[in-house]
Amino acid sequence: MTTSLFSSNGSKRLVLVSGRAHPELAAEVAAHLEVDLVPTTAYEFANGEIYTRFAESVRGADAFALQSHCAPVNTWIMEQLLMVDALKRASAKTITVVAPFYGYARQDKKHRGREPISARLMADLFKTAGADRLMSVDLHAAQIQGFFDGPVDHLMAMPILVEYVRTRVDVSNVTVVSPDAGRIRVAEQWAAKLGGGPLAFVHKTRDIRRPNVSVANRVVGDVEGRSCVIVDDLIDTAGTIAEAVRVVLEAGAKDVLAVATHGVLSDPAVERLQACGAREIVVTDTLPIPDEHRFEKLTVLSIAPLIARAVREVFEDGSVTSLFDGNA
Ligand code: R5P
Repeated sequence: MTTSLFSSNGSKRLVLVSGRAHPELAAEVAAHLEVDLVPTTAYEFANGEIYTRFAESVRGADAFALQSHCAPVNTWIMEQLLMVDALKRASAKTITVVAPFYGYARQDKKHRGREPISARLMADLFKTAGADRLMSVDLHAAQIQGFFDGPVDHLMAMPILVEYVRTRVDVSNVTVVSPDAGRIRVAEQWAAKLGGGPLAFVHKTRDIRRPNVSVANRVVGDVEGRSCVIVDDLIDTAGTIAEAVRVVLEAGAKDVLAVATHGVLSDPAVERLQACGAREIVVTDTLPIPDEHRFEKLTVLSIAPLIARAVREVFEDGSVTSLFDGNA
């Protein structure tokens, strides 16, 4: 293989570069595209500053810069910004930031005065660095697309997750549960894909002065005797999902599957998930899931085929929407 993929008429050249956050995903995306990653040097100076350099020319190329924002989030975001700057100064023709998990997406609005809108700042930083386009999977809120002054390809993991979940539940007896009122729209889409069963949602309250702390008060909807599928965008410390599983089981659910696109899995997520009573927890690998975070009931589905297909559609001026039955 080579590090360049040419368009069918040979007029365009794709290159894929990756930071160091999630090398497994980068390798998988590259394999699906049948291209090698551009060899890259990256290291830290003694004081923590990052150095990065591509070992081959990217002049005139459509460059896709992949980095997922796992911990340490700020380091990997900074590395991706430096990669974009390097691509711009090396005369790449277009630069697409591929951030399967977009860091700071949860901070997409001001809850109180004197707070930042961090998700917006992120978009501004990528634009300033030289990005022409952003690609991400299941943003915390779809409106974040509007924070970036340029095209945003907002991919959905739903088709991958739904296809798997269909094999794990009796769809004639499923209730889709939103873990909070804010995600009911997504739960509705899930319910439609799983055969049109009823919806429920968990009434959750959060202390906005304390991160990662929420309490599930009760579930609203028909869950008794039913297989419940709780769907969220991300599992961080698993407080939200574990609380949701608890109230759904207490309300008489037959069993529970917990599904999320992004497995952040910060401590003590693994302990909480193992103890929460869910039959299975399903995530994708938009973020690296190290061996020590894997356990029997955790299923990790590959997001690489979707990202590779979307990259190819963008490169070939095709349609990303077509990957989602025209609904993205
Ligand atoms: C909240 O709005 C998000 O969709 C997630 O439910 C939340 O961020 C997950 O965090 P944790 O797992 O720490 O409760």
